[in-house]
Amino acid sequence: MLLLVRRQKIIMRRVIIAGNWKMNKNIAESIDLANTVKRSLYDVESVEIVLCPPFTSLSDVNEVLIESNIGLGAQDVYWEKEGAFTGEVSCSMLKSAGCKYCIVGHSERRQFFGETNETVNKKAKALLANSLKPIVCVGEKLEDRKADKTFQVVKDHVVNSLAGLTKEDMANVVVAYEPVWAIGTGVNATKEQAQEVHKYIRGLLKEMFDEATADSVRIQYGGSVKPDNIKELIQQEDVDGALVGGASLKADPFAQIVRGCL
Ligand code: PGA
Repeated sequence: MLLLVRRQKIIMRRVIIAGNWKMNKNIAESIDLANTVKRSLYDVESVEIVLCPPFTSLSDVNEVLIESNIGLGAQDVYWEKEGAFTGEVSCSMLKSAGCKYCIVGHSERRQFFGETNETVNKKAKALLANSLKPIVCVGEKLEDRKADKTFQVVKDHVVNSLAGLTKEDMANVVVAYEPVWAIGTGVNATKEQAQEVHKYIRGLLKEMFDEATADSVRIQYGGSVKPDNIKELIQQEDVDGALVGGASLKADPFAQIVRGCL
């Protein structure tokens, strides 16, 4: 009798839950929400938590989060160092406000503000050069999914947004799979749909970099994440966290989402 022993790989990826507040909360409201989230989650160590308030609130929220278990992120950045770019914010400005992370390529920026894979790529490279961690968003629209183009669109986003990055860079990159049809609609991807695309993304990362890199990159799911669906999503093999929009605007559901991952 032939005995086949297959060595099981044990891969540890720390779950990361980020709250994307989008264009919500003035400074006082931001301080208030950050304080409540901090109090609700002070004891959580095994999940990495990040809050992404609007630019105007970054510094004040940073004051609240200093020496807490919660990190600060921005929602966008411009890649140039400084200069005549009215309305834009640079990496060093984000750093001086206390940011560790920055979302890039969110579908709302792709849809309303002309973000492309090329601009996402420039932003990701600029962030990495400034020791900031990009959360790179990718994901198909409803019409893409209906036309069976999900993998094609996701591949285009992943390959071109991460073009030219090194394996070492990837240690500081988080990928967020956000199917556009699930964002703000209340309709989340099923756990099977999420896992299928997350696994596909990990396969792409293996082709672009190598297996060890692909295994270590965290891939968040985003799109109508709520306290009642986080558990089944996070149990999927390739789902390593969530990028939460609407449910991050109140401390209670956001804290429940984080605790749903413990
Ligand atoms: P949602 O947004 O949770 O409100 O669907 C997610 C996102 O846009 O990151």
